[in-house]
Amino acid sequence: MYTVSFQEFDFKQPSLPCFLLFLVLLPLSSAAQSYSNITLGSSLVAQDDEYSAWASSPSSGDFAFGFQKVGNDGFLLAIWFDKMPEKTIVWSANRNHLVQRGSKAELTTDGRLVLWDQRGRQIWAAVSANPGASHATMLDTGNLVLASQDSSILWQSFDNPTDTVLPTQAMNLDTQIIARYTETNYSNGRFKFILQRDGNLLLYTTDFPFTDKVAAYWSTQDSIGSGFQVIFNQSGYIYLAARNGTLLDTVFPALSSSPAQDFYLRATVDYDGVLRQYAYPKTSVATSGGSGAKAWTTLSFQPSNICQRIGGGYGGGACGYNSYCMLSEDKQRPICQCIPGYSFIDKNDIRKGCRPNFGFCDEASQKTDLFEFETMESADWFDSSYEDFEGVTEDWCRQACLSDCFCAVATFKDGECKKRRIPLSNGIVDPDVGGKALVKVRKGNANDESRSTLIRVGSVLLGGSTFLNLLLFLLTLMMFSRLKRKEASVAIHPQKLTPLPAIYLPSFTYSELEKATNGFEEQLGSGAFGTVYKGDLPSEPRKSVAVKKLHKTERNGEQEFQAEVTAIGRTNHKNLVQLLGFCNEGQNRLLVHEYMRNGSLAKFLFQNPRPSWYERIKIVFGTAEGLCYLHEECSSCTIHCDIKPENILLDDSFTARISDFGLAKLLKKDETRTTTAIRGTKGYVAPEWFRNMAITVKVDVYSFGILLLEAICCRKNLEQDAEEEDRMILAEWAYDCYVGETLHLLVEKDEEAMRDMKMVKKFVMIAIWCIQEDPSLRPTMKKVTQMMEGAAAVPVPPNPNSVEFAL
Ligand SMILES: *[C@@H]1O[C@H](CO)[C@@H](O)[C@H](O)[C@H]1NC(C)=O
Ligand SMILES: *[C@@H]1O[C@H](CO)[C@@H](O)[C@H](O)[C@H]1NC(C)=O
Ligand SMILES: *[C@@H]1O[C@H](CO)[C@@H](O)[C@H](O)[C@H]1NC(C)=O
Ligand SMILES: *[C@@H]1O[C@H](CO)[C@@H](O)[C@H](O)[C@H]1NC(C)=O
Ligand SMILES: *[C@@H]1O[C@H](CO)[C@@H](O)[C@H](O)[C@H]1NC(C)=O
Repeated sequence: MYTVSFQEFDFKQPSLPCFLLFLVLLPLSSAAQSYSNITLGSSLVAQDDEYSAWASSPSSGDFAFGFQKVGNDGFLLAIWFDKMPEKTIVWSANRNHLVQRGSKAELTTDGRLVLWDQRGRQIWAAVSANPGASHATMLDTGNLVLASQDSSILWQSFDNPTDTVLPTQAMNLDTQIIARYTETNYSNGRFKFILQRDGNLLLYTTDFPFTDKVAAYWSTQDSIGSGFQVIFNQSGYIYLAARNGTLLDTVFPALSSSPAQDFYLRATVDYDGVLRQYAYPKTSVATSGGSGAKAWTTLSFQPSNICQRIGGGYGGGACGYNSYCMLSEDKQRPICQCIPGYSFIDKNDIRKGCRPNFGFCDEASQKTDLFEFETMESADWFDSSYEDFEGVTEDWCRQACLSDCFCAVATFKDGECKKRRIPLSNGIVDPDVGGKALVKVRKGNANDESRSTLIRVGSVLLGGSTFLNLLLFLLTLMMFSRLKRKEASVAIHPQKLTPLPAIYLPSFTYSELEKATNGFEEQLGSGAFGTVYKGDLPSEPRKSVAVKKLHKTERNGEQEFQAEVTAIGRTNHKNLVQLLGFCNEGQNRLLVHEYMRNGSLAKFLFQNPRPSWYERIKIVFGTAEGLCYLHEECSSCTIHCDIKPENILLDDSFTARISDFGLAKLLKKDETRTTTAIRGTKGYVAPEWFRNMAITVKVDVYSFGILLLEAICCRKNLEQDAEEEDRMILAEWAYDCYVGETLHLLVEKDEEAMRDMKMVKKFVMIAIWCIQEDPSLRPTMKKVTQMMEGAAAVPVPPNPNSVEFAL
């Protein structure tokens, strides 16, 4: 399960237009009239410029039931969140059959709820086994009920969900929720979430335009066939329960840090097939320093990577035929793209798939010299070849595909060549796949769109040069901001490539920085490399910075310093603290970084009460990703040398940001000056520092392992005054607990973690791998992230100290 911590709420900077919009829309929220009881004979009529609705009661009016206009296509008889400008729909009566102006919904005098279209035809009716309701009520939970005289419920919308479930709603056996078709089309779509009569809870693709199941791509794991109800409780916790009420499996955890009652919550199977849990702040955050702009934010989702989950040579899968699926940079949503030489059949409905821009097996296609290949790295279509060859070369594979007019794509991996024909099902681009795909295209026919996509894909997968990375970063930023704006837009059209200006890292004078820090007044911290001060750059708007004054030394020349600093400045990743500028004046060398408002992980971890388990996981995960980038992806591999909670800073959204990277290299010349060559901090340094062995990236992996244990247990590795002696060194105690199967001792009094022992165990195992004495046994950071994500299995770790070194 992939959990996005709560703190990812993006309360953007106050922006006037947003704020105004909010103000303008506000009066609408009171448009629906509140009826405690909707009496027999009441009706609503669909009208263009008016909300015609009944608000929920008895008091809150959070929800309304009535007609909502969908674009210019017609009206839905729906239930929606009424107090937000978006009026997000959570249920509808006529999703597959929009009605027009003049249509009418009525609670008839014989106690039925009926929808008639503008021509008086019955479109829908609430059907209950026992007709004759005496009244209806739109409840504050978002549930519309028809009740009898004695208030027993005859029919309720909660029993007939569309694509969303709400807190207090339960899904009973044989209940399903079906994704909508596209972002703006509420019809039944291509994916569904169902609690089957046999007690299993799954996500399926459907045989659109019908809703029968085709392929399962997610299910609960611990509860084969014993589920009875899916419960979404008021804490935001969604779980599968047995008939006797026992909790069997968690779908989504409860909100971790903030009280659930401050948020509107919902869980929706989105049109991209991902089941997401969302939150929306109830009150404006303007008072607490944010802005009035609010939005739905994803808290958690399933499955963690839909691209990997839907395979096989059948059906359109996550993205439609002849396309490929790739997880977005933030790993939260699938992105669908056509393979090179192919175009979307319908740009407004990309899951219809892609068609080739040229003919197959027509007369012209017999001439092999008319075709060439576009290469896609790490792309695959599982189990869908029509001819396989082993022990061949890539060149042979190319020729074989070229001379076969049926062959649309050949995949080549480890001497194996697989020919594939169209339509191609379930394509995926993912670093785990490996190998390459050779896509046959008519010469001069691969359009620019797919070319630039390829470049992007290539740079994601290969890590490429600094230039590509920077390019990628900018592209990602652009994509990201688009995504942010249009929350559910999955189709990302590749950006046009534009040349970048040369990299420029501002240099400051000493007096400028002296002024910015008010004479180095407020000290934020100090360490092996120097002292850090808080400052404010006189830019507009004022920007807070952290100014690091490096120890005065006589060492590397000016040019060299500048080159190193520029290299650090080029390093750019969401989990690294960005270098903004520097000062290099005589003996004064200073670095200017982004200011991280929320301090360090050390301050966060070792506070009382301990921070939420899920936040800790998120931060450790971010740290792993940042390190992985430093080790593998940025142009020159960077060893950090001093990974510890003090050097992991937290930004406003509690994202982990590694600081002080590159300094080890920058100050290398200093080593002669100090008596000991050991860098790093006691408790976190790898044993090879003491052993005169080569220092590699694996020293960081070791330190990360210690940090991971500290984050699991919220305590320091070395605790002199531990109650029991065998608990003094966390690394050793953790291994003992692992072997003795007493891991719960590590997270005593931590309820969230106690409920998540499987994850605790997995993380402890990963940590034990990281702190192996023998550096070659430690995994790479890449492998660590894969194991944490669940993309790679975690084998049983050996005793970290089992290897004896010759000293
Ligand atoms: C709604 O109607 C039912 C049945 O007529 C009645 O028992 C109940 O008290 C009414 N509720 C309110 C809030 O008026
Ligand atoms: C929504 O999609 C379905 C399926 O393609 C289509 O039949 C229907 O006309 C669409 N509705 C709207 C309002 O476009
Ligand atoms: C939701 O369920 C969880 C797990 O059963 C429980 O700990 C929590 O107290 C529940 N919250 C509410 C409001 O019922
Ligand atoms: C409840 O049901 C589950 C699954 O059917 C079973 O494993 C468990 O032992 C039951 N618990 C009790 C207290 O009956
Ligand atoms: C984190 O930063 C935010 C925004 O500045 C602030 O509101 C919050 O109190 C900080 N939290 C901690 C634990 O410092």
